[in-house]
Amino acid sequence: MKIGIDRISFYTSNYFVDLKTLAVARSVDSDKYYLGIGQEKMGIPPPDEDVVTLGASAAWPLMRDGELDDVELILFATESGIDQSKAAGIYVHGLLEMNARCRVVELKQACYSGTAGLQMAIGFVARNPGKKALVITSDVARYELGSPGEATQGCGAVAMLVAEQPRLVAIDPESGYYTEDVMDFWRPNYRSEALVDGKYSTMVYIHALLESWKQYEALTGRSLSDFDRFCYHIPFTKMAEKAHHKLCRKLKVESSKEQMDALLEESLRYSRITGNCYAGSMYVGLTSLLDTAEEDLSGRRIGFYSYGSGCVGEFFSGVIQPGYREFLHADQHRNLLEKRTELTYQQYEDIFNYGVPTDGGEYVFPQYKTGPFRFSGISQHKREYESLVE
Ligand code: CAA
Repeated sequence: MKIGIDRISFYTSNYFVDLKTLAVARSVDSDKYYLGIGQEKMGIPPPDEDVVTLGASAAWPLMRDGELDDVELILFATESGIDQSKAAGIYVHGLLEMNARCRVVELKQACYSGTAGLQMAIGFVARNPGKKALVITSDVARYELGSPGEATQGCGAVAMLVAEQPRLVAIDPESGYYTEDVMDFWRPNYRSEALVDGKYSTMVYIHALLESWKQYEALTGRSLSDFDRFCYHIPFTKMAEKAHHKLCRKLKVESSKEQMDALLEESLRYSRITGNCYAGSMYVGLTSLLDTAEEDLSGRRIGFYSYGSGCVGEFFSGVIQPGYREFLHADQHRNLLEKRTELTYQQYEDIFNYGVPTDGGEYVFPQYKTGPFRFSGISQHKREYESLVE
C-alpha cells in the first residue's frame, strides 16, 4: 500500500527584509548574501505572528477544503516552541476546530523534526487504515543581530496531510539515517536566539549526508541517476547546492556544476526569498519544486536529505504521483509571496527587539497583516489567539 504526502500547504509572514538592505546596514557587499550564500530575502514575523499562527495559517486551506475530517494525529514539529509543556499543535487544533478524537504532540530535533513527524505519521497511517495524520512544521529562525547567521533568518510553516494512496508523493519505505552527538547549532532554554558554530555546522551537515546516503544505497541498490530531482534541507540555498556537489563528487558522478544544480533549482526558489524555516525547510523546498517545475514530474523519483543540527540526518525518497498538479496550492503560494511588504532596516530591528512580555500582565498586540489567525495578546501568562476567518 502506498502511503505519503496527500496535500501540502505553505505559509510565511507578510513581511520581509531584502538582504541588500541588510548588507548596507552591516557594511557587507550584497553579493556575499545574494551569490555567496544564495539568499535574497528573509521573512520576518510581526509581533502578532508566532509558530502557532504560522502553522494554523498553513493548515487552514486543507481545513477549508474539507481534507482534515479523518485526521486523528497532529504532529507539530518546531524548534522555536512557545511553551515548555503544552504542544503548540493543540492551539492549532482549537483554531481549526478539529475533531476531539485526535492525538496531538510536539516534536523537537532541530530542523530534522519535520521528517521525524512525516515518518511517524506514515507509521500511524499504516497501523490505522483509512485514518490520516497532519504534520505541521513551523519555525521562526533567529540569530543575533550582526552575527554570521543573521542573513539566513526566515520564518514559515508547512502543513502536510499524510494518507494512504497519496495524491502528491508516495514515500518509499527505505531510509538511511544517522545520529551523532555534536554541538554545531543549539538554543539553550534561556535564549531566544540560536548559538551556532557556523563553519563546523556545514561540515557536519555534509558528513551526515554521506553517512545517510551510504545506508540508503546499501538498502536500495539505487544510484544518484535513479533520481530526477533532489530536495535538501535548506538553511541557505548555497548549502544545499554544495552538499549535492559533494555527494556527486564522492560517488564520482560525471556531471557539470550546471547539470547538478539543475536537479535542485526549482526546490530552492521559495527558500531563496523566505529564508530558513528550520523544521520545514526541506518541505518548503518540496512545495517549491511541485509548484514551480514547468515539467510534469508525474512518476519521477525524488531524493530527500533532511538534516537537524545536534545532529540527525536522513536520506529517503518518494515518487511523485500522476495528476499531482490538480491538488497543489501553487496560486495561493505565489500570491502570498508576491504581496508581502518590504521592511526598512529600522522596522526590522524594531520587530526583532519586540519581546513577548513575561510579567504575567495584560497585553494587546498591535495588528499587522497576518493570515487567517493572529496572536492577539497575552493575559496572565496565557497566549491569546484570534481567528479572522469569516
Ligand atoms: N561575492 C560573492 N561571494 C562572496 C562575497 C562576495 N562579495 N563575499 C563572500 N562570499 C562568499 C564566500 O566566499 C563564501 O563562499 P564559500 O562558502 O563558497 O567559500 C560565502 O560567501 C559565505 O561567506 P563566509 O564563509 O565568509 O560567510 P560567514 O562565515 O559570514 O557565514 C555561515 C557563513 C557560517 C554558514 C553563516 O551563514 C552561519 O553561521 N549560518 C547559520 C548556520 C547554518 O546555516 N549552518 C548550515 C548547516 S547546519 C543546518 O543546516 C541546520 C540549520 O538549519 C541551522
